[in-house]
Amino acid sequence: MIGSMNHVGIAVPDIETAIAFYRDVLGAVDITEPRDLPPQGVTYAFVNLPSGQVELITPFGEDSPINKFLERNPKGGQHHVCFEVEDIHEASLLMAERGMRVLNEPRIGAHGTLVVFLHPGDAGGVLIELMESHKEAH
Ligand code: CO
Repeated sequence: MIGSMNHVGIAVPDIETAIAFYRDVLGAVDITEPRDLPPQGVTYAFVNLPSGQVELITPFGEDSPINKFLERNPKGGQHHVCFEVEDIHEASLLMAERGMRVLNEPRIGAHGTLVVFLHPGDAGGVLIELMESHKEAH
């Protein structure tokens, strides 16, 4: 059911420092400006690579789910992996049928399409994001 791997989410304590690392040390040449996504409590930037993206995320606001992650991993770390699906509502139902805990109703993610997260406890310890693919019209 899953299609392309879209991105890997990396939680970081400071997004400008992380951007500088990907740009100046790893040599990435295409990195977006940081943007706030208040409904998800994150500020994010994309490192665009030929094969996909790294999504740098840092907390936005005190209720951010990333705060807890950074308490456990002060230097940051790999936070989630994102796979594309054709239809997020269908995928969400199917995952629930297969015994996965789906952590949220489909909501708009950083890419402007609907996303859900799956509980890492049901997924080999990995927080999985499912993201509806951009439709052809885009
Ligand atoms: Co993501």
